[in-house]
Amino acid sequence: MKEFWNERYAETTFAYGLEANDFLKAQPIGSGLKVLCLAEGEGRNGVYLAKLGNEVTCVDYSEAGLEKTQTLAKQNGVEVTCVCADLGQMNLQAETWDLIVGIFAHFPKTVKEHIWPQVYDALRPGGQLIIEVYDQEQLRFGTGGPQHADLLYSVDELELLLSTNFQFIQIEKVYREVHEGTYHNGASATLQVIAQK
Ligand SMILES: C[S@@+](CC[C@H](N)C(=O)[O-])C[C@H]1O[C@@H](n2cnc3c(N)ncnc32)[C@H](O)[C@@H]1O
Repeated sequence: MKEFWNERYAETTFAYGLEANDFLKAQPIGSGLKVLCLAEGEGRNGVYLAKLGNEVTCVDYSEAGLEKTQTLAKQNGVEVTCVCADLGQMNLQAETWDLIVGIFAHFPKTVKEHIWPQVYDALRPGGQLIIEVYDQEQLRFGTGGPQHADLLYSVDELELLLSTNFQFIQIEKVYREVHEGTYHNGASATLQVIAQK
C-alpha cells in the first residue's frame, strides 16, 4: 500500500489539490493551536492550518507525500513538521494536541483499530477531533476513495473506534459533491465528525 501512495504522489500535480478539504475549511479554527494531521499525504490540510497560525505536525508513511508537503509549505511561506511513520505502529503521546485532523484517512481495519482509539487521550482537555472520510456507500458512487469496503467507514464503526468519553458535536453520513483534486470528484457519501474532549 505504501508503494501505491508513493507512486501516486510521484505525479507532478497534487492528487487531492492544493486547497484544504471543504469540511475542514468550513470549521471555525483558531490560531496558536498544536495540530496533528493524520494520514496527511501531500499536506494541503496541514499547510492550510499552518497558514491560520497554528503549529502543525503532519504524519504519513509516504515519503513522496511528505516531500510534497514540505514543498507546499515553502510555497506558502509556512513551516510544518513532517513525521514519516506507519499509523498502524505509532503511539500518540497523551494530552499533547489541541486539534487532531483526519481527512480521507483510509486504512485497513488493523490500522484503524490501532490509531483511532488513541486520539481521545492524545488530545488536551477541550481539544477537538475533525474527521471527514468516505462512507461504505461511496463504493456505489465510484467518484473517488478506496475501492475496498475494509478501507471505508460507517458511523457505527467510527463510534466503536472512538472513545465514548468524547462529546460528539457531529457524527453523520453526509451526501455531498466533492471536488478535491484529480482523484476525488463528484457526488459522494462521506462521514463527518466533530468531537470534543
Ligand atoms: C486519500 S489520502 C489522504 C491524504 C490527505 N489527508 C488529503 O486529504 O489530501 C490517504 C493517505 O493515507 C496515508 N496512509 C495510509 N495508510 C497509512 C498508514 N498505515 N500509516 C500512515 N499513513 C497512511 C497514505 O499515504 C495517504 O497519504
